Amino acid sequence: MAPFITFEGIEGSGKTTQIRLFAERLKRQNRQVLQTREPGGCPIADQIRGILLHPENAAMDSRTELLLYAAARAQHIEQIVRPALQQGKVVLCDRYTDATMAYQGDGRGLDRKLIQQLNHLASGGCTPKLTLLFDLPIEIGLGRARQREAELQDSSEGRFEREQLDFHQRIRDGYLTLARNDSDRIKIVDASRSLDDVTLQVADILDSFLPAAIGSL
Ligand SMILES: Nc1ncnc2c1ncn2[C@@H]1O[C@H](COP(=O)(O)OP(=O)(O)OP(=O)(O)O)[C@@H](O)[C@H]1O
Ligand SMILES: [Mg+2]
Repeated sequence: MAPFITFEGIEGSGKTTQIRLFAERLKRQNRQVLQTREPGGCPIADQIRGILLHPENAAMDSRTELLLYAAARAQHIEQIVRPALQQGKVVLCDRYTDATMAYQGDGRGLDRKLIQQLNHLASGGCTPKLTLLFDLPIEIGLGRARQREAELQDSSEGRFEREQLDFHQRIRDGYLTLARNDSDRIKIVDASRSLDDVTLQVADILDSFLPAAIGSL
């Protein structure tokens, strides 16, 4: 199977910016690549994404949230990710199971064992070989996310951005704990730096990972 790489981090940490840049770079190198995201990545999961991220759904129960993420993931993996990996494509995914652990575990306080089991069920055992964690102070990330929302005049996906600061701090800390406990897989990127600097950090990590991963196909 081809390498499965995930991009993680708090709101506004630069995941989507970097995944796009890296996918373009891989395509210029004539590598087969699939860029996708969670929640979403296929029509059924995109409909669930709309429910999950819509700011008007503030009344959503944490368990509803967890189950919707799992439902969207199951569909996305079977319909999009697994076939692409089997076709030898490098799959780059914007958020994945670590996000569920950080947001629904550390953020919402749901049981970690239960989340692990659900992640396992939904992912069908499709686990990333490498994860980039974009880490930065929450105020900077949220500031960037709000500026982006104002520039694009699009607030249709802002439910999480509207959470309290301590919620976002728990998520940042939760992600860092995941990285400490799985340092072979999860590599931390200092996302507070300039766009060019972050791009270089990402290229360094991926360029040393990919030849070995692709060589073993
Ligand atoms: N290193 C950087 N320095 C300054 N601004 C940046 C940097 N990286 C990205 N940005 C800008 O910050 C905003 C948020 O970036 P991006 O959308 O990539 O974050 P994200 O992690 O995907 O956020 P979300 O979790 O909300 O999807 C964008 O407007 C982007 O252009
Ligand atoms: Mg994004």
